[in-house]
Amino acid sequence: YQIPFVANEEVKSYVPGSPEREELQATYKKMYKQVIEVPQYIGSKVVKSGNKKEIRPPHDHQHIVGYYHEGTQDDVKAAIDAALKARRDWANMSWENRAAIFLKAADLLAGPYRARINAATMIGQSKNVFQAEIDAACELIDFLRFNVEFMTQIYADQPISSEGVWNRVEYRPLEGFTFAITPFNFTAISANLPASMALMGNVVVWKPSDKQIYSAEIIMEVFREAGLPDGVINMVLTDGAATSKTVMEHPDFAGLHFTGSTSVFKSLWKQIGNNIDIYKTYPRIVGETGGKDFVIAHKSSDAQEVATALVRGAFEYQGQKCSAASRAYVSKSLWPKVEKEMKKALDSITMGSPEDFSNFVTAVIDANSFKKCKGYIDRAKKSKNAEIVFGGKCDDKVGYFVEPTVILASDPHYESMVEEIFGPILTIYVFEDKNWEKTLELVDTTSDYALTGAIFAKDRYVLNQGIKALENAAGNFYINDKPTGAVVGQQPFGGARASGTNDKAGSAMNLMRWVSVRTVKETF
Ligand code: ALA
Repeated sequence: YQIPFVANEEVKSYVPGSPEREELQATYKKMYKQVIEVPQYIGSKVVKSGNKKEIRPPHDHQHIVGYYHEGTQDDVKAAIDAALKARRDWANMSWENRAAIFLKAADLLAGPYRARINAATMIGQSKNVFQAEIDAACELIDFLRFNVEFMTQIYADQPISSEGVWNRVEYRPLEGFTFAITPFNFTAISANLPASMALMGNVVVWKPSDKQIYSAEIIMEVFREAGLPDGVINMVLTDGAATSKTVMEHPDFAGLHFTGSTSVFKSLWKQIGNNIDIYKTYPRIVGETGGKDFVIAHKSSDAQEVATALVRGAFEYQGQKCSAASRAYVSKSLWPKVEKEMKKALDSITMGSPEDFSNFVTAVIDANSFKKCKGYIDRAKKSKNAEIVFGGKCDDKVGYFVEPTVILASDPHYESMVEEIFGPILTIYVFEDKNWEKTLELVDTTSDYALTGAIFAKDRYVLNQGIKALENAAGNFYINDKPTGAVVGQQPFGGARASGTNDKAGSAMNLMRWVSVRTVKETF
């Protein structure tokens, strides 16, 4: 299985004066003035329902950058039919031809589409330039290229044979169609869920988040330009709950690839369970859901490293990464230095529109998120168990801006230490140095989630204690590093417990879920 050499896409710097900066600034400005129309893509049809919904940047919510054509459940049914119609030819296409389409898509994103996909992610999802580049350009390109490598690893895994007998396994796509439900917070995840299933020979109905439609449109354009046949990935812009119901009541529904909230995922799982008798095959269910990701710092840690990890881990992309640090446990003797370093870093951070490339923080995704964050901040201001030590200002006049906020909690079970917020709010509990072991237990038992977590210590003995005590507390565990920023091909990503099925995005483990294996024994 010879494929082109695969390596991680280099992150461009966008330093002042660089050609990529000038191109992206010009593209952003041009796109900001345009008003786009996003259709649904169903089979060979580009469907404009006429039921137009506005697309507004979260950092400038009175400005309209486009409309999408909202679809109906008839469109979802048409998407399922189109997928099933495309299935035979796609499943029988050689793996090289399927792979070539996604490798071409990666090249288009790395080159001619890079500025547009980054600008769309900055405008539609309010990512700053660096966050857009590592997501919509690099991670997405990496997913597309590395998936091809993982696919060949899977195909190469064959059983042993003996004289006169040839044993082999065929990695066939699932029998039916698959369903991708994708989130607003990563353009890369949004594209990867449908693309990874399609690469393995499956046909897909894709329902992107209505907060990510600007960049989803470009992904569809890229796939089509790369030669993806009609009907292989069908993008519907419809009501989420109704769409799930329509899709999961179909006998040919064969797999769900989901990233989003825990409550929605559980509800989908229950619906699949209730419908189990109607399906031709047991549907595969893969989900990456919520998190309450932790950082724990032992007194032997480097305070500067801890502070940097907390600021970057909690506040990059306004804390709207499922991997974001949102609860931290810092040893008492280390805390004064960590606090000082964090304040220094946070004082130098600016907040505003992503159009200004120097802004580290921009807006949260929508009015609901703004309200939720403000609620936690307002309650912390009044609580006797919490003190705001940094930030706390909220302003939604122009965009949904929430200042990076650090809450110090005297109670380790204070609400913001326990509940998922999905915004730029970090809660810190300072523990007595002598309570290291007790605190490890607290970290493990405080949350039902187990997505990411980080431990900081220089002392190897306590590190080893932590590695063992927290073995089930995080699917992605970081030692002396922030808990965000998993790189495809380097840190397979996914959580356990209430955080998901832990089928590691960016690895062969995930792609294995999208094949149904036929074992063949041939005797000569
Ligand atoms: N893969 C993303 C991260 O690790 C979610 O931050």
